[in-house]
Amino acid sequence: MSMMSCLPDLNHYIPLKSDTDRLAKCTKVCKQYSNEDERVVKWLRDEFIASVANDFSWRCRYDKKENPLRMIGVASGTGVIEMSVISELLTVFPFIDVTVIEPCRESIDAYKALTEKRKLEFKGVSWNWCQETFQTFSQRNSDRFDFICAIHALYFSPLSELKEQLLTLHEMLDDGGIIFSLHDKGTTCLQQFEKLFPDVNHPLRPSINSDLIKSSLKELSFSYRTIGELETNIEATECLIPGSEDGSCLLDAFIQVVGFTKLSKSDEVQLVQDFLKTEEVSFCLEGRWFVDMSVEMIVINSLK
Ligand SMILES: C[S@@+](CC[C@H](N)C(=O)[O-])C[C@H]1O[C@@H](n2cnc3c(N)ncnc32)[C@H](O)[C@@H]1O
Repeated sequence: MSMMSCLPDLNHYIPLKSDTDRLAKCTKVCKQYSNEDERVVKWLRDEFIASVANDFSWRCRYDKKENPLRMIGVASGTGVIEMSVISELLTVFPFIDVTVIEPCRESIDAYKALTEKRKLEFKGVSWNWCQETFQTFSQRNSDRFDFICAIHALYFSPLSELKEQLLTLHEMLDDGGIIFSLHDKGTTCLQQFEKLFPDVNHPLRPSINSDLIKSSLKELSFSYRTIGELETNIEATECLIPGSEDGSCLLDAFIQVVGFTKLSKSDEVQLVQDFLKTEEVSFCLEGRWFVDMSVEMIVINSLK
């Protein structure tokens, strides 16, 4: 039988992005096995400010406490990467007013704890916490911002709504403002999975990636540019170990459903494990498997 004919019908599973708690748990496990935070934080330190410096020609507007740079973080999670972005911005803008939008209580609490721990370093920052979705926030908000941080933030609507989401974000920009976007490239494990199993027609598929974001930006005639790409990966060896709780969270994250190992038959799990070991998806180093989760960074500015 071909791989395709054995594929479990994933349309019967809950999409991971509609279960905030499971998503937070799976994201936490992914972070433990991923080199993304480390690689992105290094890139931010070495290249971020130089990449966006020209966009900050208006920066003299924001050098006083009573007139801070106004920023929002969309889908901020636990804030690890976002705080690195803010740390770099602080080298240019001494005062920043940050509005954090994150629906998951556990993640926003972890973010608050991190700001408390690093409060001396971030003393120029004032924080506003919004435990809600971006959709809810944007419906009640009419403020404009100078900087929008959108890191893995655009995966939560179907593709048919992507342009609308980008439009909403863009409308929140003040003149001269920018959106910093970091999302999966079109090459990652999930993208390969969707290509290999195109008969999976869940309304939340295809999942959003930076290629789709760029084509939507083109259709909207928004001004944008790619400022970096990073090869990052997640170690997936645990997914091959029967009964591993971490492996089960990683698998859910890789194929974006809730409870795959618990709800599926063993030959279905085997099929997905075999898929993970294909060369388009992963590489093996000394018996350990690493799946591609590369990311791309795009800057979108307020000009049309
Ligand atoms: C993949 S994580 C990214 C977290 C963080 N930006 C990072 O890269 O570490 C996605 C985050 O989006 C949040 N989220 C889920 N649905 C959302 C929505 N509709 N609006 C805003 N955030 C959402 C999740 O709770 C989760 O923390």
